This record gives sequence, structure tokens and C-alpha cells, in this order.
Amino acid sequence: MKRFKQHAIWGHRGTFILAATGSAVGLGNIWKFPYVTGENGGGAFVLMYLVCVAIIGIPIMIAEILVGRRARANPITSVQTVSRDSGLLRGWNVIGWMGVIAAFLILSYYTVIAGWTLEYFTLALDNRFAGLDGEASGNIFDELLANRSQLVQWQTAFISMTALILMFGVNKGLEAAVRVMMPVLFLLLLLLLAYAIYAGDFAAGLRFLFSFHPEDLSVRGALIALGHAFFTLSLGMAAIMAYGAYMPSTSAIGKTAVTVALLDTTVALVAGLAIFPLVFATPDITPSEGPGLMFVTLPIAFGAMPWGNVFGSAFFALVILAAWSSTISLLEPAVAYLTERFRFHRISASLLIALGAWLLGLGTVFSFNVWVDKKILWDLNFFGLIDFLTTNVMLPLGGLLTAIYVGWRVKRELIEHELKLDSTRFIRIWYWLLRYISPLAVLAVLLGGLYPVLKNFFGES
Ligand code: PHE
Repeated sequence: MKRFKQHAIWGHRGTFILAATGSAVGLGNIWKFPYVTGENGGGAFVLMYLVCVAIIGIPIMIAEILVGRRARANPITSVQTVSRDSGLLRGWNVIGWMGVIAAFLILSYYTVIAGWTLEYFTLALDNRFAGLDGEASGNIFDELLANRSQLVQWQTAFISMTALILMFGVNKGLEAAVRVMMPVLFLLLLLLLAYAIYAGDFAAGLRFLFSFHPEDLSVRGALIALGHAFFTLSLGMAAIMAYGAYMPSTSAIGKTAVTVALLDTTVALVAGLAIFPLVFATPDITPSEGPGLMFVTLPIAFGAMPWGNVFGSAFFALVILAAWSSTISLLEPAVAYLTERFRFHRISASLLIALGAWLLGLGTVFSFNVWVDKKILWDLNFFGLIDFLTTNVMLPLGGLLTAIYVGWRVKRELIEHELKLDSTRFIRIWYWLLRYISPLAVLAVLLGGLYPVLKNFFGES
């Protein structure tokens, strides 16, 4: 333990909340949540998602923070330390390793997609959305995806922005960045909400997101809601555990996790309330656009609105900030591991991992043009495979193992010691959810996500 005495601690009590919310709030909230909600029955989906966050997301988040803070080290070392202190087999260490690797893999493609938002920000500034119709907007997007050098340029920019922050260290880089980024992000979000109320069809947006029809509740929807809850809270991988390692021991873990989950959910809902009214106020475009909602539909709406260029650029600036604070949390686990375990300097560690993720990310860049039809496994191309492997396999598996590990294996005194600032009743409910509900529910998502692939696989052979 002595080796990690100098391990950094956030300088302000609120930083963990900002940093973890920064990790949680990302493309998942602003790009994905609105369209999956649209595709899965609006209000019914929102309800299932909220239940998943409360009974599975929050318990697992608490478990992750607890392990990180207990050991005060990078996720790999943290799990090793906690296992040793609980007298457990070394096999459990796979949790730390899998988390750090999953974070690295996600980083490789997340920076490519986040790069598109940089391009759209410049387009909005240039007032290029003015008078755009559906076809023209689709063309802009298709041309971007076909243009490899431009994609690589934006990917390089995004990963460099990410590495730059981490080079300055935990307090001067990470902490300083999220303390500026998050308030600006919240302000921009409110500004856009106000714009949607003023320029959009707010009532239609509200109806779309919150109209509840019980007949829309479905098993498939529940699985998607649970999978999304995982991704959006950055769970099942090393990010939250790495941030937990910097949390002061005077913070109550349970209360903090609840706050982060609430903020993340609020941002997702407000993002929906800022986007759909604009979509409904623009003739000829539909909310069920799917993944193209942010890059194809929204520019048309901005192009038709008063002050569309100003608010369009504000919107993409918001997405950039949200994605940036997420990529930082994806790079930090591996950087912390290299600096603590192998005594790398933070600058070389950040550059090395960023370079690795960049190289791997080229595969994602090519997956949108030259490799589009190059199937690697089943009918998945390179990007499809990495996305599937992380979102559908590694994250839920990591979450499942974490729940079993902390719920059933880690010594109770150790858990009680870390959670001593939370109320006994809260801890009792948390422990029960973590032991019985979370593992079963995550297992269901895992199997549900794998089912189509397995069926395909066995059906073919
Ligand atoms: N939570 C982020 C989002 O919603 C994605 C993410 C996943 C970030 C895992 C870090 C770790 O976009």
C-alpha cells in the first residue's frame, strides 16, 4: 500500500461529482438516448430506463467507487489490493483488467464519432445549415463518412484534446478541466432548452418523451433500457473506479452516486426536451430518424430556425464538451496504471495510450468507407465488432462480475468501513439490490444481447 501514498486526491469535495458526471454525460445522453427513446415507445421506455438506473445502475456504481477508493490506485491495482485484503483468488483480478481494456477499446471508436461533432461545429459556425433540406443534409453526412482523411483529421484532433488534459495530471489537468467544462455544459444545455421552448414545438416534444402507454412496455425495451443505463452511467468498466480512487474519504459514496445518476438522467431528459421540439417544428422531418437524428435531422431544423447558426454551434459545442469529458475518463484508467505500476511519466503514458487508441481507431474510420462491407465476424465489420464486444459483452460482464465480487466476495468490514458515512438503511437496501437484483438483471441483458448473435451463429452452422 505504501507505494501509493502519493496517489492524488481531488482538491475539492465536489470534483468527483463533476468528473463522474462528465464521464457519464456523453454521446450516450445527447445522441443515443433521444433516438432510442423515440424507437422504443417514448414514456414507457423512459420509465423502464429510470427503474434500471435506480435498482441496478446506482448499486453497481457504488460498488465500483468503493473498490477504487478503498485501494486508492488504478483499477487493476485496486481490484488486486481489495482481493488480497479479502483473501480472494487472483482470478477476480480479471475485473480490473477487463475494465481497463474495455475503456481503451471504447476510446478508440468514441473519439472517431466525437470527431464528427467537431466537423459539425465548424459547419454550424459557417452557417452551412441554412435552408438545408433532407437530401442535402444526408449528403453532407455521407460525404463526411466517405472522406477518410477528414475523418482521421478530426479523430486525431479529438484524441489529442483528450491526451492533452491528462498530461497535466489529476489535479491540474483532469480536475481543472472538469471544473470549467461541466458548468459550461450545463449552461449551454439550459440555453438550448430555452431556445427549444421559444423556437420549437415544445408541447409536441413533451408529449413524445413522456406520453406513457402501458402497452409499449416490453421485454426487449427493458433489455435495451438496461443496456443503455449501463453505458450512460459509464459502468462495468474502469472509469468510475479510477475516479473513485481520487475521492476524499470525507465524501459519502452512496449519496454521491445517487447525485451523479440523477444528474446524468436529467441531462439525458433535458437533451431530449431540447431536441424534439425543434424536430417537430420543422416540416417534413421525423423524430424516428434513428442514429442519424443528431447529424442529419437536427441540422435541417437548425437551418430553418431563427438564429439557427448560433444555436446550432452552441448545440455542437455542448456535444463536444460532453464527449470530451467522457473520453478523458476512458483514457485515465490506462494512464493511471502505467504511471503507478511502471512509473511512466504522465506525459509519456498519455501519449502512448492515445497513440494506441488512435491506431486502433483507424479501423473504425475505415469501417465507414473502405471497410464498410468487410465482415470480420458474423455480419459485423470492424466497428460493429468492437462496439458489440464492448457494449454487449464486456460492459455487462464487467458489471455482473463487479456485483458478485462486491456483493458476495469482498469482506463485509471493508465495505462497511468505506460506506460508513451513508445511513444504515440505505446500505442495507443497497447491499440487497447488489447481491440479488443487479446480477440477475445484468445476466438477463447479457444473454438478451447475445441471443440474436448466438442464434445467428448456431442457425448458420
Ligand atoms: N457514459 C458515456 C456516454 O453516455 C460513455 C462512456 C462509457 C464513457 C463508459 C466512459 C465509460 O456517452
